[in-house]
Amino acid sequence: MAFIPKEFIENLLDKVDIYEVVSPRVHLKKAGKDYSGLCPFHAENTPSFTVSQQKQFYHCFGCGKNGTAISFLMDYEGLDFVDAVKDLAQKAGMEVPQQAGSYTQKTNSNLFEVTEKATRIFRHQLKAASHVIEYLKNRGISGQTAQIFQLGYALDEWDGLSKRFELNEQDLLKKTGLTTDNERNQTYDKFRNRLMFPIHDRRGRVIAFGGRAIEADQKPKYLNSPETELFHKSNELYGLHLAKKHSNEPYILVVEGYMDVIALHEKGIKNAVATLGTATSAQHIQTLFKSWDRIVFCFDGDSAGVQAAEKALKTALPLYLDRKIIDFLFLPEKEDPDSYVTKFGAEAFHEQINDAVAYSDLLIQILSKNINLNSLDGKAQLFDKAQPYINQLPKGNFKQIMGKKIAEISGIEQSRPQVFNQPKQQQTQHGENPLRKLISLLMNSPNLCAKMPQALNLHKLSFKGVEIVDKIVEIFNANPHISSAAMLEHFRDSEYSKYLGQLMRMYDHLDDQQKHLEFNDLVKYLQKMTSQQEINRLREKQLHTGLSNEEKQTLVQLLHQRHQ
Ligand code: UTP
Ligand code: MN
Repeated sequence: MAFIPKEFIENLLDKVDIYEVVSPRVHLKKAGKDYSGLCPFHAENTPSFTVSQQKQFYHCFGCGKNGTAISFLMDYEGLDFVDAVKDLAQKAGMEVPQQAGSYTQKTNSNLFEVTEKATRIFRHQLKAASHVIEYLKNRGISGQTAQIFQLGYALDEWDGLSKRFELNEQDLLKKTGLTTDNERNQTYDKFRNRLMFPIHDRRGRVIAFGGRAIEADQKPKYLNSPETELFHKSNELYGLHLAKKHSNEPYILVVEGYMDVIALHEKGIKNAVATLGTATSAQHIQTLFKSWDRIVFCFDGDSAGVQAAEKALKTALPLYLDRKIIDFLFLPEKEDPDSYVTKFGAEAFHEQINDAVAYSDLLIQILSKNINLNSLDGKAQLFDKAQPYINQLPKGNFKQIMGKKIAEISGIEQSRPQVFNQPKQQQTQHGENPLRKLISLLMNSPNLCAKMPQALNLHKLSFKGVEIVDKIVEIFNANPHISSAAMLEHFRDSEYSKYLGQLMRMYDHLDDQQKHLEFNDLVKYLQKMTSQQEINRLREKQLHTGLSNEEKQTLVQLLHQRHQ
C-alpha cells in the first residue's frame, strides 16, 4: 500500500470538515453542539448516529461504528485508505505527497496494465479454442457468463503469452507471476493449456489468475498466481467485485471454488464469492461484513468441509458482532455448490440456504464432539471447553446468550455467571478503570498531554494499556497542535484503533474546563496510586532484605507526601 506521511494526514484532517463530508450523504440535524441523523451503517428508525465537528469524529450509539472523515469515506463509499485520503485531499485542494509510496503506486499501475493485457489475450485465445468452449458448455456455462467473468484460455506453449509482450515488459510480466524461471534461468509461461480465471480486486482490476486443467491427466487441477505485489490471497475473494453490486442482498455466500461462484451466477445467484484455495481469514470476514450483515458459508458435506467450517467458525469468533449473522450450509455428500445448483437449480439451492446451520448451533456441535452429555462429567467437560470460545466473543447479546445456552446444556445454571466475564481489570473508586479515563481524556483533548507530570510513572501500576498513553504523549510531542481526529488516525493500523474509537465519546458531556478538572483529579489519583505502590514495595523489601540509605529516604519522603 502506498505510504502517506502521518503529517500529511494531520494537515488534511485540519483542513477537512467532517460535517461537509457526512452531510451530503446522511441527513443531519443539529443536536446540541453536535449533529445527529439515521445511521447509514445499520437499519434504524430513530437517530443514533452523531457527528461532532469539534472532534471531527462520528459515532453511532446503535452499531458502534465510529471514526474520522477518512474512516467515514472508507466505510460509506467502500474506498481503501489511500483512495479515501486522495478523495478528501482533492476536495481540500491539497496534493498527496509524491513519496516512496507513490513509486509503488506507479509500478502497480504498470502491473495492472500487464494483467489487463494478459486478460485480453487469454479472452481472445478462448474464442479460437473450441475444445475449451466445449468444456465450458459441458459444465453449463453460457457465453454470457464467460464474458462477465472474463474467462480465457492460455495456449499450450511455453511462451504463448510472453511472446505477446514487448522486451521491456518482460520484467513486469514476471512480477505479476504470469511467467517464471526454471533452474537454468529460462523464463517460461506459468499457465499453459488452461482455462483462465482472472481474479479481480474489489474495484474490478485484475490482480491475479487461476488456471484450470482441461485434460484429465493434467496436474495440478488448479494452478494459481503466486503472492505478488498485487495479490495477497488471504485478503482477496474471488468474485467480490461482481458480488458487491448485490450488496443489497441480505447475505453473501462464501464458497470454495471459482466454478462454484460462476455456476451460481449462471443460475442467477449473484451474491457469492470464493476464497482462493485458502482458509477463510479474519480479513475476509471483515471485508464481507462491511457490505453485508449476514454471511452464509457453503461447505461440501464431507469431512474436509466440516473441518473447514470449524476453522471458519473459530476465525469468526472475535468478529461476531451483534447484528451480524453467520450461518453454515453443508451440502449433501459428494456435492459442491456448482454441481448442486447445476443439477437441481436455484430454487433448490435457496432451500438449502434456508436450512443452513446457525453459528451458535454449529459451535455447540463442535464443543460437544466426543463428549457424552448424559453424564455429569461430560457436562462439566463441555462447560470448561466452552469458556475459551465464549471469552473470545465480543461483548454483547450474542455472548450473553451463548453463555446462558452453554450453562443450560451443562446443567450449570446462572449461579456462576462471573465465569463469562473477562478477567477483571484493576478497578478503583473511580469506577471505570482510571487508565481508560486517562486515555479517553488525552484522545479528546490532546493538549492535556502537555500537563502529564514527568514523574508520573504509570508502568508501576498493573494496568493494561499504559503503552497507549506513552504512544499518545509521544505523538503529541512530535506535533503539539494535533487534533483529536488526527490523533485517532495515528492508530489506524494498530491493534488499539477500535478500542480508542470507542473511548472517544466518554467525555462528551463535559466542556473543556470540566475536562481539565477531571484530568487534574485523575492525575492526582494516579499519582497517589503509584506512590502507594512504591511504598508497599519498599516496605516489603525492608522486611526481607533491608533498604539502602537512598531507598529509606525515598520511603520517608513518600510517606510524608501521603500525609500532606
Ligand atoms: P476443488 O477441488 O473443490 O475444485 O477446489 P472445484 O471447485 O470443485 O473445481 P471443479 O469443479 O473440479 O472445476 C476448490 C478450490 O480450491 C483451489 C481452487 O481455488 C479451487 O477453486 N484448488 C483446488 C487449488 O488451488 N488447486 C487445486 O489443485 C485444487
Ligand atoms: Mn466442482
